[in-house]
Amino acid sequence: MKHIFIAGNWKSNKTIGESAAWVAGFKEKSIALEGKWEALTTVVCVPSLSMQTVKEALTAAALPVAVASQNVSAYDEGAYTGEVTGKMVKEVADWVIIGHSERRKYFGETDEILKNKVEKAKAAGLKVIYCVPDDATVVPPGVDVVGYEPVWAIGTGKTDSPENANSVVSNIKSKTGAAIVIYGGSVTADNVATFVAQPAIDGVLPGGASLDPEKYIRLLAAAVSNP
Ligand code: 13P
Repeated sequence: MKHIFIAGNWKSNKTIGESAAWVAGFKEKSIALEGKWEALTTVVCVPSLSMQTVKEALTAAALPVAVASQNVSAYDEGAYTGEVTGKMVKEVADWVIIGHSERRKYFGETDEILKNKVEKAKAAGLKVIYCVPDDATVVPPGVDVVGYEPVWAIGTGKTDSPENANSVVSNIKSKTGAAIVIYGGSVTADNVATFVAQPAIDGVLPGGASLDPEKYIRLLAAAVSNP
């Protein structure tokens, strides 16, 4: 069976208390994933303030879910007010998501800045999920997973077609040599199987569908139930 990589991106949602409640809800329903974990690598991309709480709660519940930061500084430690460095993130998370279209659009993150972020993340020992909106956007060296997320499909309820997503993912693989490339944009429990059934697509990157732990579990279960 194909191994599936799924990263749930909470974006700018959930207080620390709400994040703890998510883990409790996930644990309660995780029986649905019994016997399915071997086929799955799953990550939750949580707000910085919640990372430690989520990590501790997942560890205490013995749940094989990794924690990802949604950001990392392009600089080393020092006089960069407000920034969280790779070294700080690495204490509580193994992954970081870099290059999301929302970071590019609202925070002016350019390919150059994003390349620096990848370098700092890798130097700190973090694994990187790097998002691109198409197969023409540059992917810096060293990223572990590439996420193809067409901007028009994010949060709109309109997905790319599985066939087109597969073709873009194939192009990204051949251009960049990336071993793991996933699709994001309005993925739900109801459509996830159509994406992971595609030969080149290694998993998915849901946003909205990861916010409710029960919905997220249904999505994970549907992804690995695919024949
Ligand atoms: P939605 O699943 O809410 O469309 O978000 C996708 C996304 O941007 C994940 O990073």
